[in-house]
Amino acid sequence: TPRQKFVCGNWKMFKTTGEARELVRALAPLLQGAAGKVQVAVAPPFTALAAAAEALRGTPVELAAQNCHFEPQGAFTGEVSVPMLADLGVKHCIVGHSERRQLFGETDEGVRKKAAALLRAGLLPIVCVGETLQEREAGRTLEVVSRQVRGALEGLAAADVARLTLAYEPVWAIGTGKTATTAQAQEVHAAARQLLRQLFGAAAEEVRIQYGGSVKPDNAAELMAQPDVDGALVGGASLKAPDFSNIVKGAL
Ligand code: G3H
Repeated sequence: TPRQKFVCGNWKMFKTTGEARELVRALAPLLQGAAGKVQVAVAPPFTALAAAAEALRGTPVELAAQNCHFEPQGAFTGEVSVPMLADLGVKHCIVGHSERRQLFGETDEGVRKKAAALLRAGLLPIVCVGETLQEREAGRTLEVVSRQVRGALEGLAAADVARLTLAYEPVWAIGTGKTATTAQAQEVHAAARQLLRQLFGAAAEEVRIQYGGSVKPDNAAELMAQPDVDGALVGGASLKAPDFSNIVKGAL
């Protein structure tokens, strides 16, 4: 069976509770037709998860978080655990976003612990990887992405890997308006899937690999038409209901 496309909107540090409700209400009718065929999720900030969950009720759009801690509870001031997210109806969680790696010291090791904690609790990780501009220009893209994939996933059971999503987000394309070309994206996605085959065998065919980095309504369809591009992780354009719904329709 072909992999179902999966589009997730990462709202980053935007939207109060009221604004989150408003965006979900604008989005739901626009996505009516598409959301049955394409898997769709939105990832509001922690503070808006409960409001978004309520507004999403009865719609096919799923709820995602942007980060989590790997311990279920404890003395970890400022952190939010996986059971706490599950309690709010969260189904997916982004881990290892480049902003977290670059600005908040997230390591491959931390990403692996978070992915494992999510899978143990029945939530679905969206594991982000991607090279910087400097790394791409030095010809190190595949080496960096491989290291991140191994670092995040090695040691997991193949059956668990089959359930998670990988997001390839070249750092130089995030929020810059510079999208990777379809060929650049497909090259890295194919290499990542080949590595997953080596590490986890047939489970690799089930892993959705999203592309992220300046995905817009006018480039989404072409990117997602690539054989190993199974969806998108959308930042800026996910904050506008018509743009996000047009990106989702690009997956049809
Ligand atoms: O998680 C989303 C990515 O960081 C992409 O962000 O679509 O604003 O470039 P962007």
